[in-house]
Amino acid sequence: MSTESQKPDLRSAHVIVVANEKGGTGKSTVSIHTTVGLLKAGYRVATIDLDTRQRTLTRFFENRLSWAEQAGTTLEMPFHHALDRGDSADLGDNETREFTAFANAIEQIEHDYEFVVIDTPASDSYLMRLAHSLADTLISPINDSFIDVDVFSRVHHDRAKRGAIAHYADLVLEARRRRRQVDAGMIDWVLLRNRVAALQSNNAKQIAASIEKLATELQFRTAEGLHDRVIFRELFPIGLTALDAIEEAARGGVLTNSQLAARQEIGELIETLRLPVRGPGESHIAARHDWFERMSRFYRERDRAR
Ligand SMILES: Nc1ncnc2c1ncn2[C@@H]1O[C@H](COP(=O)(O)OP(=O)(O)O)[C@@H](O)[C@H]1O
Ligand SMILES: [Mg+2]
Repeated sequence: MSTESQKPDLRSAHVIVVANEKGGTGKSTVSIHTTVGLLKAGYRVATIDLDTRQRTLTRFFENRLSWAEQAGTTLEMPFHHALDRGDSADLGDNETREFTAFANAIEQIEHDYEFVVIDTPASDSYLMRLAHSLADTLISPINDSFIDVDVFSRVHHDRAKRGAIAHYADLVLEARRRRRQVDAGMIDWVLLRNRVAALQSNNAKQIAASIEKLATELQFRTAEGLHDRVIFRELFPIGLTALDAIEEAARGGVLTNSQLAARQEIGELIETLRLPVRGPGESHIAARHDWFERMSRFYRERDRAR
């Protein structure tokens, strides 16, 4: 099956894929916070959960909806799609089904949303590769551990065995090649250090140095990262994030330092992504400027008439 010829035109929606072929690095956490951050900034966001087993992103938005309903409030929600994995014995058949479901999901959202955030599983699969080849921005969260670095480039005490491009990096480089052939598009690959410890250890410094070295070789950028904070995980059952008004929901009106710090980190992450500003986000700004203009004209005329 030629997936390239059937690939939907995604240029109208900016696709953010959160992926790394390593479990537990924070893919779903980053997908959740990026989505809520963009929604709070006024963008129209769609989400796709490709993790057909864990469905963390799907659960989070189910919890969010249910919390809002029982609290009698409204919360920003993305247009969400959870994909199912093909379960027939015929692999080719599964691919066709998965591709069709994915293309249908994209088709429904591509013209109405400015951003599509795709959360992915940790295993290499057809859907995961498909998502990579559509990515405009690829965020790979990584923890401060050589085990995490090893999926990008082989870590070894023997210099001769060190530095070979490892499986996941290879997958991204391949997706980049494919992407260039199809629409000359670029994948902006951003490595995000996640669960960074409050105190920088020697090990963390060594890891930061090896990531910087790899950045040139594999052509990715690095983001400042998110610290290990309870607030990034404790609100999952009620589908809230540090960006939400949890001070009203749970803390008697007080913003904690940890909430403020988490908000700042998410804001910085979104800034680092340098996402394109367009669509309602931009027209929203234009509408406000227009309103300012009309209001000041009104005041000028009123003052003159006095
Ligand atoms: N910055 C963070 N601070 C605290 N806990 C985190 C942070 N990022 C992720 N976690 C926790 O780490 C675990 C794995 O994160 P998750 O987002 O599910 O990873 P993945 O989707 O890559 O498997 C979860 O228990 C999550 O709540
Ligand atoms: Mg996950």
